[in-house]
Amino acid sequence: MAQEGTTATRRIRMGLIGLGAAGQNHLAVLSRLPEVDLVGIADLDAALVARLGAETGVALATTDHRRILADTSIEAVAIAAADAAHFPLIMDCAAAG
Ligand SMILES: NC(=O)c1ccc[n+]([C@@H]2O[C@H](COP(=O)([O-])OP(=O)(O)OC[C@H]3O[C@@H](n4cnc5c(N)ncnc54)[C@H](O)[C@@H]3O)[C@@H](O)[C@H]2O)c1
Repeated sequence: MAQEGTTATRRIRMGLIGLGAAGQNHLAVLSRLPEVDLVGIADLDAALVARLGAETGVALATTDHRRILADTSIEAVAIAAADAAHFPLIMDCAAAG
């Protein structure tokens, strides 16, 4: 029988950065995975953030990915932003631990 706190029951708190074509595919999957609690989404496009935030009801929808990284309860972040943004975003994630 599964116990609380085991990998069978514990949900990973995640953020998602980048909400374009690939990001929206990630969003659809991460929103449905029972193992994932998607708690933050970010993109530079404010209108896109507002629309997807309203559609998903995610707790934090922002144009500043650093707001996701500042939430120490978030355990993992998926980066689906444009290629040129990958390096600085990865460095920010690494710095946030
Ligand atoms: N589209 C696909 O089918 C597909 C498949 C495999 C891999 N990818 C990869 O996914 C990545 C994204 O591709 P895409 O097709 O979704 O591009 P896209 O142009 O549709 O979306 C990119 C998004 O990244 C956002 N963005 C850019 N800089 C950002 C930043 N600093 N913080 C937050 N958001 C930022 C943009 O506002 C945009 O909404 C690329 O690395 C691409 O190679 C895409």
